[in-house]
Amino acid sequence: MPVVELRSDTFTLPTAEMRAAMSHAPVGDDVYGEDPTVRLLEEKAAGAMGKQAACLMPSGTMANLAALTAHAPRGSRVFVGRDSDVYVYEAHGVSVCSGVAMDPIDTDARGRLNIAQLERALPEDPDDPQFSLPSALCLENTANLAGGVPLAPADMADAVAFAVRNRLAVHLDGARIFNASVALGLPAAEVAREADSVQFCLSKGLSAPIGSIVTGSAEFVTRVRRVRKMLGGGMRQAGVIAAAGIVALDTMVDRLAEDHARARRLADGLAGIAGLSVAPQQVRTNIVMFRVANGRPSHGELIGAAGRDGVRLAELGRGQLRAVTHRGVDDRGIEHALRVIAAAMR
Ligand SMILES: Cc1ncc(COP(=O)(O)O)c(C=O)c1O
Repeated sequence: MPVVELRSDTFTLPTAEMRAAMSHAPVGDDVYGEDPTVRLLEEKAAGAMGKQAACLMPSGTMANLAALTAHAPRGSRVFVGRDSDVYVYEAHGVSVCSGVAMDPIDTDARGRLNIAQLERALPEDPDDPQFSLPSALCLENTANLAGGVPLAPADMADAVAFAVRNRLAVHLDGARIFNASVALGLPAAEVAREADSVQFCLSKGLSAPIGSIVTGSAEFVTRVRRVRKMLGGGMRQAGVIAAAGIVALDTMVDRLAEDHARARRLADGLAGIAGLSVAPQQVRTNIVMFRVANGRPSHGELIGAAGRDGVRLAELGRGQLRAVTHRGVDDRGIEHALRVIAAAMR
């Protein structure tokens, strides 16, 4: 049985079609704006998000960093989810590189920001020089650590209304926005509608080897391009990357439904294993969060035992295990993973 890689959808390998497209792509110097394949990808990406313009980025981390830097003046504050990727897993780049403080806000079980806490975090008096001024708010969809919850526009409406009331820009970390779109049965542009900017990843479930995209207004994306250059993310013949991204957008979105069905099958199976705690009805996309209910075996022991039988799991978040389905995991892989995990729990 080959390895069943459930640690992340970032382990997806490029398809044969992507590799062929990469080798034949027309390219130019993208820092001069002269790479036709990058331009085509950016046009498609902007269209998919319903925004005016887009900019190719080397990673989701740089995409979030560049977008938030373009929104937030130095010395200002951005509101982020306490469990969000931008706060937990991106080395606080927006603070370190851009002089912007992150104000972490609690999220509920579905990854929605706590509005009462946002209200309390506003400066008592915006004219009082003691307070830093908030400039932006960051949402995440799907909400990774909440278990890949897809947020419908209605789920984000309160946070968006708070942002509008307080003149904050809304940035959406839509690393997995297409998983949300497929799960909700809504076009990605509809999911992204209220956000001023969206970043999404080509290199996760969509299977491209490299790349993320920032989208927004033409004026905003011009500023993002400058920040990208400043961060060292201006790439030359980036068409070799963009070519795979085009194939990803054209061919990899609809199949995400298969990953979601397998995640649900995995969660149902895990729920039947004594000693595991999991809520299968909450699994809507490709992420399954679960844990060992009484701490025996420890998560480390379970990960080790499963790993020895070729099933790779990750511990992350607040003491949870995560299994992520993707193009590299088929039905047999799911059944094998369930057998191996059941054996490790006995
Ligand atoms: C929700 C979310 N945002 C952003 C990122 C960062 O993307 P990258 O790994 O391309 O930097 C990730 C990566 O896993 C993520 O899960």
